[in-house]
Amino acid sequence: MKFGYFDDLHREYVITQPDTPLPWINYLGCEAYFGIISNTAGGYSFYRDARLRRITRYRYNNVPMDFGGRYIYLRDDESKDFWSPSWQPTRNDLKDYTCRHGMGYTVIGSSYSGIEAHTRYFVPLGENLEIWQLTVTNKRATKASISAFSSIEFCLWDAQDDATNFQRNFNTGQVEVEDGVIYHKTEYRERRNHFAYFASSEPDASFDTQRDAFLGPYNGWDKPAAVVAGQLTNSIAHGWSPIGAHQVKLDLEPGETRQIVFVLGYHENPVDQKFDPPESQTINKKTVKPVIAKYLDPKQADAAFEKLRQYWESVLGIFQVNTPDIHTNRMVNIWNAYQCMATFNMSRSASFYESGIGRGLGFRDSNQDLLGFVHMAPARARERILDLAATQLPTGGAYHQYQPLTKRGNNDIGGGFNDDPHWLIIGVSAYLKETGDWSILDAPVQYDNQPGSEQPLYDHLQRSFNYTLSRLGPHGLPLIGRADWNDCLNLNCFSDTPGQSFQTTTNKEGKVAESVFIAGLFVLAGRELAAIASHRNLKDEAAKYLAESAKMEKVTLKDGWDGEWFLRAYDDFGAKLGSKDCKEGKIFIESNGFCTLAGIGLEDGKAASALAAVNQRLATKHGIVVQQPAYSRYYYEWGEISSYPPGYKENAGVFCHVNPWVMIGETRLGHGDQAFDYYSRINPSAREEISDLHRCEPYVYAQMIAGKDAPSFGEAKNSWLTGTAAWNYYAIVQWILGIRTSLEGLEIAPVIPTNWPGFTATRTFRGVVYKISIERKGSGNQIALTVDGSPIKGNIVPVPSDGRKTVTVKGILS
Ligand code: GLC
Ligand code: GLC
Repeated sequence: MKFGYFDDLHREYVITQPDTPLPWINYLGCEAYFGIISNTAGGYSFYRDARLRRITRYRYNNVPMDFGGRYIYLRDDESKDFWSPSWQPTRNDLKDYTCRHGMGYTVIGSSYSGIEAHTRYFVPLGENLEIWQLTVTNKRATKASISAFSSIEFCLWDAQDDATNFQRNFNTGQVEVEDGVIYHKTEYRERRNHFAYFASSEPDASFDTQRDAFLGPYNGWDKPAAVVAGQLTNSIAHGWSPIGAHQVKLDLEPGETRQIVFVLGYHENPVDQKFDPPESQTINKKTVKPVIAKYLDPKQADAAFEKLRQYWESVLGIFQVNTPDIHTNRMVNIWNAYQCMATFNMSRSASFYESGIGRGLGFRDSNQDLLGFVHMAPARARERILDLAATQLPTGGAYHQYQPLTKRGNNDIGGGFNDDPHWLIIGVSAYLKETGDWSILDAPVQYDNQPGSEQPLYDHLQRSFNYTLSRLGPHGLPLIGRADWNDCLNLNCFSDTPGQSFQTTTNKEGKVAESVFIAGLFVLAGRELAAIASHRNLKDEAAKYLAESAKMEKVTLKDGWDGEWFLRAYDDFGAKLGSKDCKEGKIFIESNGFCTLAGIGLEDGKAASALAAVNQRLATKHGIVVQQPAYSRYYYEWGEISSYPPGYKENAGVFCHVNPWVMIGETRLGHGDQAFDYYSRINPSAREEISDLHRCEPYVYAQMIAGKDAPSFGEAKNSWLTGTAAWNYYAIVQWILGIRTSLEGLEIAPVIPTNWPGFTATRTFRGVVYKISIERKGSGNQIALTVDGSPIKGNIVPVPSDGRKTVTVKGILS
């Protein structure tokens, strides 16, 4: 069953039924001001940091779900009937409800009692504000007297404190209202120099800023007392819960359309210019007023929207493909790329599942995200890399997370996740392959954000690599530390205390437990680093990295091999995980996926054997599960992985993030059909028809789909912010379609399904447009390339040295 449809032409998903199984969300903003918005106008906004600068309130895990939003109410002032065109919060029986989630904007609307209304929400580029353009049309044969109410609830900035510290924050709320603009200024009197505002393009008939006055003490957002009464109370908030609500009166002739623009924004003043007059407590509004005035003008709002549209057009235009498969096309061309940008912007901070107060930006996560977005925002990728590297510790290890606002490592979680440092090498390598910007390696970067500790970025990469060399276990495999990619495989944790964090508790010294996954990652990182070193003419170093990489490969093939597949790890007792000898957890996806992706065992048949075992034991119709058999009870010596009921999350769920490792492994074996089959099993668009089972948005990946051991097999959770976005994008684009960035140029090496006649693509790479067409003449993966009509040797198309800006590449597969 579906709840909407894809409108590929407009790059939108159109939801036609408001009561989707879960809120289906979209993101507003792509620079500093962000919001999440659901298909019924739920969600919230923040400036840079979802925890520390929350602008509006949202109630996670509320009943009913998805409360707190950008709500508009329309009221027929004759019949006194009122409704919300976005369905929530009033949930009337609407006609023609649609929500169009597009690239950086959402339009929600419907008809009710002959009044058609829709609101377009978006954040203009370069501004710290969001625009709501409400359009109301009278479709009746008679005049209509309508009141339009807009409403938001302010958050008192720190979302964590806001939801818990009531002894203080029921006293602190403050607002100002001037010329109809509502200013939220809690804590502005003391150490903050920022405030929020909510403005309307039409003169207010009335306003409210005190929540109780607007809702009435015992009413919900579905029935605000002031909307019922048809009149706001002009309340000024003192403490309690400041809100913003405007009432605008519309007298509409039959057929008449009116537009009202509401602007919600964030603004900072220099610390020494906070007040006007200076000795007063009144906000200095000199610099904010022109911004507000500009965007309340519908023409300016339209122009800003058009700019946003062009921005996405150009960003998505960097890579476009036309294959025989519609799901591939729409994910690659539109939604998967878009999701990659969202994960880059948000990391894992704010979604329907991530409360915005939990985690900052993950070190490993953000580095992996680079794989998916680096071509769309290379300058910001550079900045992200340097920020990440600055949180690296002098040991080469890394803080597991950092806060985007302060750009500091997060002390609560600390470091000791022994895979983390290698992802920096993978991230930097992806950046170099895309941009050819070698200067980044010389950029001075601090360790642990300590002034004076600056070393070139390249030094950080060296320390990343060496980190593992000084942390090898009894077999010569990398010690796992707190965890590797699988945050829940906690082999040194040994926790029996309820509620204790599996992530940060380390009760054993950790000199025994080894990770075969990190071994695979190390092998790959070593090769990437060697390629970087040899490009810089550091021959000895390159040789050293290759030698260490080769040594680890050997150890992996020996002590990391179980006979038919790769082991997962050795625990603190030296016992195997992911072995045929285990009772549960006999085989895992991570080590088998990553080792084959890294090319381990390609020559001696071990890679093929491992992936055949994955196919036989882990692959399901809803994707490949993490391990089998699932852990049926809690294992104190293995940690959080066994805390989840079977089939969920890391305990044998389909963790979509790691499925692409197997896809890439299959392409390395030349198995295009198998790789594409795995790709399609979790492709959200290909799952649209089963939206009632899948439940999450059909336009973006979810982190997890419940595995075959779960009662809800096939149900997705944790959509949007997941490494799944980048890895699937990378797998389909760079390995299956085979349009791959390399240090030397653009490599063309498709491993596509045998029944595809070919495909075409355009790729802008280092300033040159590559027009690529691939034609299948035989069933294999051998490719012969011509570039602008001349055959070339090999499959790397170099960047033209003669300044050509367009290159035509033809590939024949045989
Ligand atoms: C989550 C984390 C990621 C981790 C994965 C597996 O997606 O964000 O860092 O690798 O879970 O545990
Ligand atoms: C939990 C989740 C895991 C995530 C981690 C992040 O362990 O299961 O997926 O990576 O939290 O802190």
